[in-house]
Amino acid sequence: MTQHPALDQWIDDIKTLCEPDQVVLCDGSPEEYQAMMQALTEAGVAKPLNPEIRPNSYLVRSDPADVARVESRTFICSQHEADAGPTNHWAEPEAMRETLTQLFKGAMRGRTMYVIPFSMGPVGSPIAHIGVEISDSPYVVASMHIMTRVGAPVLEELGHDGRFVPCLHSVGQPLEHNDVSAPWPCNPENLYIAHFPETREIWSFGSGYGGNALLGKKCFALRIASAMARQEGWLAEHMLILKLTNPEGEYRYVAGAFPSACGKTNLAMLVPTIPGWTVETVGDDICWMKFGSDGKLYAINPEAGFFGVAPGTGMDTNPNAMLTLDANCIFTNVGETEDGDVWWEGMTAEPPEKLIDWRGNHWTPESTTPAAHPNARFTVSAAQCPAIAEEWERLEGVPISAILFGGRRGSVVPLVNEASTWEQGTFFGSIVSSEKTAAAAGTIGELRRDPMAMLPFCGYNMADYWQHWINIGQTEGAQLPKIFYVNWFRKNDAGGFIWPGFGENARVLQWIFERCAGRADAIETPIGKLPTLDGLDFSGLDLSEEAIATLLRVDTDGWLSEIPLIESYYETFGDKVPAALRDQLSQLKARLTAAASAVA
Ligand code: GTP
Ligand code: SPV
Ligand code: MN
Repeated sequence: MTQHPALDQWIDDIKTLCEPDQVVLCDGSPEEYQAMMQALTEAGVAKPLNPEIRPNSYLVRSDPADVARVESRTFICSQHEADAGPTNHWAEPEAMRETLTQLFKGAMRGRTMYVIPFSMGPVGSPIAHIGVEISDSPYVVASMHIMTRVGAPVLEELGHDGRFVPCLHSVGQPLEHNDVSAPWPCNPENLYIAHFPETREIWSFGSGYGGNALLGKKCFALRIASAMARQEGWLAEHMLILKLTNPEGEYRYVAGAFPSACGKTNLAMLVPTIPGWTVETVGDDICWMKFGSDGKLYAINPEAGFFGVAPGTGMDTNPNAMLTLDANCIFTNVGETEDGDVWWEGMTAEPPEKLIDWRGNHWTPESTTPAAHPNARFTVSAAQCPAIAEEWERLEGVPISAILFGGRRGSVVPLVNEASTWEQGTFFGSIVSSEKTAAAAGTIGELRRDPMAMLPFCGYNMADYWQHWINIGQTEGAQLPKIFYVNWFRKNDAGGFIWPGFGENARVLQWIFERCAGRADAIETPIGKLPTLDGLDFSGLDLSEEAIATLLRVDTDGWLSEIPLIESYYETFGDKVPAALRDQLSQLKARLTAAASAVA
């Protein structure tokens, strides 16, 4: 089938195991994409949108039981449980293989088995890696066309014996006799998203949605790649990448880690409110970084498209995303308007008078349920983004000057805080906590630690991952980015966001840019380096002095009450916590205690 005997052997083995009606090797062509969308339309799961409003675009409704990543069914199958660590679900690899082999037996009966060779990163980039996904879902094939580079150039790059990550996926609903397929087949009762980091394999069964099924994304580019990166001395991160240019035309590249549905896509496509500054997009979700010969960290976006959160996206919040969505999109679980277009909460100030909601029911603004599922998403090629940076596919990547960590924190954490050292920055990343969002199944709003925004995505022990970050910082000749901890989500007593966010985040980016250039001042505080009161440009914002003070305050008591929480969090990792991070924590505690007693 290909020129790669080991790949052919794997395809053959999976065919024997899954018993599909036929096997198709995907070529990534536009015709293939159209054929998938046609098949989905005939199956009744996709609906072409009005071509006069949104050409070549589709609305897809998933099964209501299959709408987000399911962390409780996501497994890291390392030989030793300690190598998965306390934040992952571990399963013994041989036992998991046995369970999955039973489930995959005959799982593709009555269906087509698609073989999708894909590259994460521009083909030929020294930072890119190749995977092959086998799937029985045409929705996955079409989505992989948009989200990755698929087809002949990938197989060529792979050659006869190149290394690839095998990614096996089935929706887990074989067709017996003359069964008609469900519009969105899935098998939520037997859900497994299993990773074998030591052998670099992925097996996913039972879901057709997002990160559960598009295996190049979270499964490969984060969970497997983080384990590869540890072995090989690089970084695979849940980060956006942007290019920031000042009015003089100087530019810098910034990467930022924020948990799911906490603002990466928005920041990556930001339209600055401050005159003369521009932001261009390199990536919106995942960042792979390797050291260049100059000691700098060079980043690529391993993806080719955006799988972005629809609700909250509008011309007022993210115009570049809206303009990206003009044509050639797949919208999943949004509302459908009477004129054959899509709508979701936040897309326009006024909702349509009536529409059909994501479940297919009649909906009006009086309805008590949302028109779009909170984790409704758009899938669209990154090349369509009007803000895409010209160098976004540069094979050698772009040099990163600053790394941001952030999360949703209604209190304590200030708007921006600069680490003095890589170690302190790694410490900041390790203690990030955030309120849970709809991107994963579970309780929304619950505060949890999400170190480096990697809690659901680290393919090995989180404490070993912190050590890997420390080690990266000690690399001979490294020219490291500066690290900042930011928080756009600080709330007032009435529960509203204090900071306007979105385009106004450019004011914080400006300070970060100037800090990297060595031009802006900062105040040394017990928690890190904060902007001076006139260091951040608040002009023209409707913010009271009290609000500004809250955003930039060192909340000594708040931080002091965080310390025992961080201590007990670290305890869950036992002696694997890097000594450098324990030191950071005890120094922070000492500085805060001194500050508190100085006031008292
Ligand atoms: P994933 O794709 O799940 O990894 O999410 P993401 O980090 O790319 O999040 P995204 O940019 O899609 O934002 C998710 C939600 O956060 C949207 O509803 C946004 O409207 C909201 N949001 C983004 N940026 C800001 C901000 O600066 N302030 C406030 N208040 N909300 C924001
Ligand atoms: C996330 O949850 O962080 C996402 C969406 O980017 S998914 O691809 O479903 O993981
Ligand atoms: Mn994400």
